Amino acid sequence: MKQKLEKLLQEALAELVQVSSEDSLHELRVKYLGKKGLVTIVMKGLGALPPEERPAAGQMVNVVKNRLEEEFGTALNAIRTSRKEEKLRSERLDISLPGRRRPMGTKHPITLVSEEIVEIFAGLGFQVAEGPEIEKDYYNFEALNIPKDHPARDMQDTFFVNDSIVLRTHTSPVQIRTMLKQAPPVRIIAPGTVYRCDSDATHSPMFHQVEELMVDKGITFSDLKGILTSFVNQCFGSGIGVRLRPSFFPFTEPSAEVDIACVICRGKGCRVCKNTGWLEILGSGMVDPEVFRHVSYDSEVYTGFAFGMGIERIAMLKYGISDMRLLFENDLRFLKQF
Ligand code: DAH
Repeated sequence: MKQKLEKLLQEALAELVQVSSEDSLHELRVKYLGKKGLVTIVMKGLGALPPEERPAAGQMVNVVKNRLEEEFGTALNAIRTSRKEEKLRSERLDISLPGRRRPMGTKHPITLVSEEIVEIFAGLGFQVAEGPEIEKDYYNFEALNIPKDHPARDMQDTFFVNDSIVLRTHTSPVQIRTMLKQAPPVRIIAPGTVYRCDSDATHSPMFHQVEELMVDKGITFSDLKGILTSFVNQCFGSGIGVRLRPSFFPFTEPSAEVDIACVICRGKGCRVCKNTGWLEILGSGMVDPEVFRHVSYDSEVYTGFAFGMGIERIAMLKYGISDMRLLFENDLRFLKQF
């Protein structure tokens, strides 16, 4: 029996030398020390020995068993260590390599211009207001004194969601929402996206406006002209001529369209201003008492002025862009210039 055990031990150690993975080590352990393992079988056979031989034989089996446990344990550690080292070697990082450069985006020209306009008005004491792009017909039209039969309600201009909901066609409904929320005085500027069913070189079905509203006691038309002149001088440079032309909007009375001296030819006449020397930039006027009635402002006490301006038009003039569609094609070669 001693010889048999000795032989088993030698065989096991010889096999162990060949083992290089955890799996095969496990198999080897099962082969010798498992429930039906070769050493286990010898152990189970101890009962068949005469009683006086059992202790010595049992001790021998234990010695072999312990020796194998120890060898297997050492082998397992060695396998794990070398695996870890190999992993560290193969996954080594060269932290001195230069990093990969992430391409940096730039702000869209519409965002740039919008931010600049907001900044100028913030300096004049105006606060930013917002409203939803999916808007109630009531705020977009009715409360702004645009009656049911007004041409601005024509299907070809407005995207209708349903009978009472539209994609806002201008930022003017923000005026209504603001006045319903707060009592005068009001000084707001509201940049945002608007939608109209229109598309060519100077129209896009989605475009941007900035709305302005100022309401207080004693506001007059000269305040409108003063604020606008200050804005134009800061946005396009000092000394740019500003001119107001009588016009009509349902929500203002009187109303005016505002022109600035052509920033391309400085008023001499060119293709951009169609040889008039002037460029229209916005619509404006004194808030119509009918609008105040819808928001329960007392038009005997308060007056105000408002205007709405297309941001694309301002961006095109500032950056000399001739086709509005360029702004929305997302061609990086174009957008990276700003
Ligand atoms: N909402 C008008 C438009 O989209 C622009 C406008 C004109 C806004 C006069 C105003 C205003 O606030 O007073 O054409």
